[in-house]
Amino acid sequence: DWKMEDVLEEEMEKIRQQVGPTDHVICALSGGVDSTVAATLVHKVLGDRLHCVFVDNGLLRYKEAERVMDTFNEHLHLPVTKVDDAERMLGRLKGLTDPEAKRKAIGAEFIDVFSEYAHKLEKELGHKPRFLVQGTLYPDVIESCPPPGKGQKHSHTIKSHHNVGGLPEDLQFELIEPLRELFKDEVRALGRLLGVPEQFIARHPFPGPGLAVRIIGDVTEGDRLDVLREVDEVFINSIKEWGLYDKIWQAFAVFLPVRSVGVQGDQRTHSHVVALRAVTSSDGMTADWYPFQPDFLRYVSTKICNTVRSVNRVVYDVTSKPPGTIEWE
Ligand code: XMP
Repeated sequence: DWKMEDVLEEEMEKIRQQVGPTDHVICALSGGVDSTVAATLVHKVLGDRLHCVFVDNGLLRYKEAERVMDTFNEHLHLPVTKVDDAERMLGRLKGLTDPEAKRKAIGAEFIDVFSEYAHKLEKELGHKPRFLVQGTLYPDVIESCPPPGKGQKHSHTIKSHHNVGGLPEDLQFELIEPLRELFKDEVRALGRLLGVPEQFIARHPFPGPGLAVRIIGDVTEGDRLDVLREVDEVFINSIKEWGLYDKIWQAFAVFLPVRSVGVQGDQRTHSHVVALRAVTSSDGMTADWYPFQPDFLRYVSTKICNTVRSVNRVVYDVTSKPPGTIEWE
């Protein structure tokens, strides 16, 4: 891919120009394609002057932290520190139901954790890391901060996307954003060029606030997170079994804070309802719901109700973006 080879060369050269020979750089990895490709690119230029942190915030999918850390270690040889922050994050989310309040709390907690990591690193290195790598893409730039006069439909922030903004005064970094002019498909091409393993490149996008924006209402109530993890795992595995994963931009389950009456094994049940969502898209800015065959929907709903005991009803979201957004919150 000649275009991506040029992009890679240009972005590597920019980093060489921007970062001095003794400067250190830090990066928060989410486990998604964007931050991984950004970090891999920077690592190629700076080697062990790049320091990455991966935060297990308690809002990740089934076994995600282990899976992602394995990929970083075994396939990418990226130096990553894992921080376990589940308890504090969930403590901070307790009782919150408003979508923006949840997003803001998650962003604030993330900044605290990140600041702590940066201060710890500063002590270890003897001087302050000067740069921060972010996997910001072109659509993130547009949706979070519309250019004046453009994008009338997005004339205000639709959702507060969380990235490492709003850091404390003593922790200001110069940003390195090598993907800022790219769309997702271009980032994937760049990742392939950098040798990022295919199963990682092809992963569906996953939002920074994680499962918190897929649980309507209080994330911490009961066993909501665990129920959602199980349902999501069955849904995604089924999509893979049926050979549909690569046809879909993003697929996931949503936990609804309602119960419905059902009948299972001659017994009345009063159990959880989950919604499934799958969309096609080229950049996440608009999306169409994915037209699964009825056979697939029958298979997956039966499998979910049989496997996840506390769920007795599955619904499928048939809303495009607009008017819906991809995530429910
Ligand atoms: P929405 O729900 O706004 O999502 O239609 C568009 C795309 O962005 C992802 N998304 C996020 N990604 N931090 C992220 O890194 C966020 O806060 C966030 N919110 C939504 C979403 O999964 C979809 O791919």
